[in-house]
Amino acid sequence: MASRIRSAVFPVAGRGTRFLPATKASPKEMLPIVDKPLIQYAVEEALAAGATKLIFVTGASKRAIEDHFDTDAELERALESGGKDELLKLVRDIVPDGVDCIYIRQGVPLGLGHAVLCARGAVGAEPFFVHLADDLIFSQTACLEQMRVHYERYACSVLGVERVPEDQTGSYGIVAVEDEAGSVQRVTRIVEKPDPAAAPSNLAVVGRYILTPAIFDKLAVTDRGAGNEIQLTDAIASLLEDEPVHALEFDGVRYDCGSKLGYLRATVEYGLRHSELGGRFRDYLTRLKH
Ligand code: UTP
Repeated sequence: MASRIRSAVFPVAGRGTRFLPATKASPKEMLPIVDKPLIQYAVEEALAAGATKLIFVTGASKRAIEDHFDTDAELERALESGGKDELLKLVRDIVPDGVDCIYIRQGVPLGLGHAVLCARGAVGAEPFFVHLADDLIFSQTACLEQMRVHYERYACSVLGVERVPEDQTGSYGIVAVEDEAGSVQRVTRIVEKPDPAAAPSNLAVVGRYILTPAIFDKLAVTDRGAGNEIQLTDAIASLLEDEPVHALEFDGVRYDCGSKLGYLRATVEYGLRHSELGGRFRDYLTRLKH
């Protein structure tokens, strides 16, 4: 039987060089989409999938993330005395009761695989979510929840995947699956950032994973790979030899907010969907077109 998934790991120790200078002193994950930072969207998705332990693997200049999820008594007092009840609720509800936040420092950013390994002690011997906040996914059912439902049935690691244009395989981990048309896609191979000519498919792993704890032993012996970093993809390739790993094509729209264009797309589309601003923003964009 599948054990319950309690932990969600958020690796937020990358340098975010594509967003410099915005990310010089403030983490990429604190960039807002309309009125919420990326990391808060990430946390909300993990909570919707049942996570109760939020593990942030942080690095240099990431204090803003801890502050964001911490209680700010002074701000709350000011909102309270100013009668700003709605805003007060908004800041108080960021982390619901019964949810723990754990912060682990990745001293040197040795890669995503290394960041996940840093969370080993906090996760323990249980399956867990990994969520990369710069991949923002808009969907009716939270992407991690779709993956959790699949995990519940098959009790194995699950990778969130999406088809990408063939000339873009070099930006992703790419998987080959046993039966591309089948409803269950068992991964047979995974390669980090292959050239289009060498890519086994165009099914790209985006920033959502459910991993069994066996991944930690794999990560512990994974050498530096592509980009001289310890790659999660390489450890998953090794895991495949011992246990089934499934790929799940989730329902939803993904925005690559680690790139400037993806970030702008998300800002525009979330702006258009926003309950208070959507109508006025649409009018503004329509006027802009003429
Ligand atoms: P990226 O490949 O997007 O790298 O990392 P980055 O450093 O964040 O951004 P760029 O490319 O320099 O602009 C993928 C994810 O892995 C995390 C990042 O925070 C991001 O969520 N990561 C990466 C770590 O936590 N530690 C690392 O050593 C590397």
